[in-house]
Amino acid sequence: MPKPKVYVTRIIPEPGLEILRKYVDIELHKSKEWPPTREELIEKVKDKDGLLCLLTDKIDAEVMDVAHNLKVISTYSVGFDHIDIDAATKRGIYVTHTPGVLTDAVAEFTVGLLLAITRKIVDANEVVKGGKWDKPWNPFFLTGPELKGKTLGIVGLGRIGRAVAKKVKGFEMKVIYYDVYRNEKAEKELGVEYVDLETLLKTSDFVSLHVPLLKETYHMIGEKELKLMKPTAYLINTARGGVVDTNALVKALKEGWIAGAALDVFEQEPLPPDHPLTKLDNVILAPHIASATIEARQRMAELAANNLVAVLKGEMPPALVNKDVLKVRPLEKVKMI
Ligand code: GLV
Repeated sequence: MPKPKVYVTRIIPEPGLEILRKYVDIELHKSKEWPPTREELIEKVKDKDGLLCLLTDKIDAEVMDVAHNLKVISTYSVGFDHIDIDAATKRGIYVTHTPGVLTDAVAEFTVGLLLAITRKIVDANEVVKGGKWDKPWNPFFLTGPELKGKTLGIVGLGRIGRAVAKKVKGFEMKVIYYDVYRNEKAEKELGVEYVDLETLLKTSDFVSLHVPLLKETYHMIGEKELKLMKPTAYLINTARGGVVDTNALVKALKEGWIAGAALDVFEQEPLPPDHPLTKLDNVILAPHIASATIEARQRMAELAANNLVAVLKGEMPPALVNKDVLKVRPLEKVKMI
């Protein structure tokens, strides 16, 4: 039997490619940095049984409709807001993602942003390297709030939200959370307290977002929510840019409704260099790198490859997004290996 044909839209870490090579014929978009153009993507998927894509590839009904043989879309990301899940399910296409393997990387980075924004670490670096350390030590220079005893509000107590709660325990912070699902087991285990979103926004010194981008979470932090936050509070976003209304956030930061923000994700990526956010002193900006540990990126490659291969073997993949697809096209109908 010929091997299944798979299009991989970017060079991913070798352990993932190694798994794929054993089972499938790979057509690789040979770039580490640039995604295929829309035209290339549409051309390449036409005869493919599988697609391994990144969060920069928009996979909608138009792409799926030209890919008559497509059985699986495996994204090298935990987020899947770039894929039209309903369209895939209707067409019997399995969608998989990479949860779990990047949880600690993202949680560690979130804690990093918490420290960086409060202790002005980025400004401090700029002072020294930029030759602006021109006065002796003084008690007021680059001071910021202490974490101990402060309240961290976690929005979304999924894998990453829980990992953040666990990691900040050492800072002796009070941790509260809001989620559409209350998790009493996690409350006991992590010593976190469930509150509604309004209470969380009103009482937190730091609000950290850990929800996926869905229709329900789009712009869930807008003008009204930012106005509920304390003027001394900080917003941290390592989830998805679309969870926050950027225009409202710029206004909030300019007008002092909140003290500052640390952002790793944006509604538009890359963020244009002249974007208003880049002009503000009370923000720290990172280029969507929260999962960027070497270990996490390798595990993501392995999991994305294993997901894809499992579906083509007619086996349950480790991380299936659209469980309803099992009713539309059972696994034995997609088995090729
Ligand atoms: C990164 O943002 C991911 O979704 O994996």
